[in-house]
Amino acid sequence: MSGGPEVVLVGPMGVGKSTVGELLAERLGCAFRDTDGDIVTAQGRTIADIFVDEGEAHFRALEKAAVAAAIAEHEGVLALGGGAILDADTRALLAGHHVVYLSMDVEEAAKRTGLNAARPLLAVNPRKQWRELMDARRHLYTEVARVVVATDGRTPDEVAQAVLDAL
Ligand code: S3P
Repeated sequence: MSGGPEVVLVGPMGVGKSTVGELLAERLGCAFRDTDGDIVTAQGRTIADIFVDEGEAHFRALEKAAVAAAIAEHEGVLALGGGAILDADTRALLAGHHVVYLSMDVEEAAKRTGLNAARPLLAVNPRKQWRELMDARRHLYTEVARVVVATDGRTPDEVAQAVLDAL
């Protein structure tokens, strides 16, 4: 496929898609973009506020449009929000692109994010909710990805290198 992002990073919240994406873009000499950032810029408020004010369904509609626009326009490294792959049309759009799934287990998630209440989908019982989210999503990340890179115990630099090695 010609055009479109060079690499698309998918995976759960807190796995380091933005940090690793910035490093990858630097090493590949291209730009980094992330769809959560696009939504925040376009809406002028935080993702958490959008969830609270208008609900998850509204956020997902914004996200679907943001992902479609970014895949059409962006030629560098693109990171998607953790739940973007829930949408079947989005998954279809990803076919033919170099999609990398950054994975981590629940212990790594607890270390990285503290699994604290700052993320709207993990506000009640973070560990349990994280496990449930992953049980519902793991197969979708795997379905869209050409490569899975495990991030457990690795620094962002090491993860970026592993992604480059897999390209
Ligand atoms: C979400 C992940 C978040 C953000 C929103 C919903 C999810 O993005 O889009 O809070 O459903 O997993 P990050 O994966 O960039 O944290």
